[in-house]
Amino acid sequence: MNIIITGASRGIGYDTVLEFSKNNKNKIIAISRNISELEKLKQKCYEQYENNIHIIEYDITDDQAILKHKLEEYEKIDILINNAGLLINKPFWDLSIEDWQETFNVNLFGAVKVIQTVFDKITKSEYAHVVNIGSMGGISVAQKFAGLSAYSSSKAALGNLTECLAEEFKDHNVSVNCICLGAVNTEMLRLAFPDCTDSFKSEDIARFICDFSSNYAKLFNGKIIPISSSTP
Ligand SMILES: NC(=O)c1ccc[n+]([C@@H]2O[C@H](COP(=O)([O-])OP(=O)(O)OC[C@H]3O[C@@H](n4cnc5c(N)ncnc54)[C@H](OP(=O)(O)O)[C@@H]3O)[C@@H](O)[C@H]2O)c1
Repeated sequence: MNIIITGASRGIGYDTVLEFSKNNKNKIIAISRNISELEKLKQKCYEQYENNIHIIEYDITDDQAILKHKLEEYEKIDILINNAGLLINKPFWDLSIEDWQETFNVNLFGAVKVIQTVFDKITKSEYAHVVNIGSMGGISVAQKFAGLSAYSSSKAALGNLTECLAEEFKDHNVSVNCICLGAVNTEMLRLAFPDCTDSFKSEDIARFICDFSSNYAKLFNGKIIPISSSTP
């Protein structure tokens, strides 16, 4: 399968690329702004699994034409994982409008842009699965935390977008789901909850994302799926 993963330079995205690369039939396209980290990931995938992944330096808030051009060689994409995310941890009164815009630009509009860019390629797949990586903070009635209003609101919007697109894309046989994560041990968690000691390992979550996105497009559509066993 041809698989795009955004936010692949570290954390969950990085481990998800490694997990997918265990299957040599997978062609993985790993995207982030940090090409030197992507180079290291590419090397690791080759050394460990002989999988030659394709790395793309791209800011998902940039012009879509740039990404379209970089993906020209691919006729078809089977799986898109919108994993890139930004968290600004500030009390509401300290958040500037620019902070809100930056957060939504990455967490919501970034995903929108990548989906729009690859839509014609994904409709060519028999499998066709868009998986958005949301957060427990974006789920209605789940516990909320001070400092995360912009982040949680943007993830709530991403969940709602998932439900809307599942409806709009169903005639194209494209499934869209949102995996809402609880605490996962990455840089982002340390930014949000510096004292949190109870968290999932990023590798375990990567295994789940890989399995879910590869095998369950036909069983789930428009679903908001919470993955959490603690608070946060
Ligand atoms: N860790 C948690 O506890 C947790 C909980 C709930 C949800 N999540 C979600 O899970 C996803 C992955 O989080 P993580 O914990 O692995 O975070 P992370 O360690 O901070 O990694 C974030 C990734 O997103 C990329 N990224 C950020 N802005 C980007 C942009 N404008 N264009 C392209 N790539 C961009 C970063 O790459 P570059 O800087 O190289 O561009 C990096 O690879 C996020 O969507 C996050 O909201 C995480």
